[in-house]
Amino acid sequence: MSTLIVENRAGQRVSLPAQPSLTLMDIMRTNGVEDILALCGGTCSCATCHVIVEDEFAERVGPASEDEMDLLEYSDHRTSSSRLACQVVFSEELDGLCVRIAPED
Ligand code: FES
Repeated sequence: MSTLIVENRAGQRVSLPAQPSLTLMDIMRTNGVEDILALCGGTCSCATCHVIVEDEFAERVGPASEDEMDLLEYSDHRTSSSRLACQVVFSEELDGLCVRIAPED
């Protein structure tokens, strides 16, 4: 089983079992990560699933889509490696991926 590492807003890291083809949001919700609100349920319309991808994985994860960028534009915490967790599909190539949950806007 692959692993997704998540750093919560308190700075604590947890390793989650990650199934390919699920989104990062699904993996976090399934594993009870509380800081990820994901209020719209993954329809790319709320930005409450904002995560920051660790630099070494940013290229593999790829850039945000135009729709994501439109939402992330309103975040005070946006970085060049910001993504919406509901828009990133996990794959085996992303094993060990580390993301930090962005501070609440
Ligand atoms: S869950 Fe709403 S944008 Fe990702």
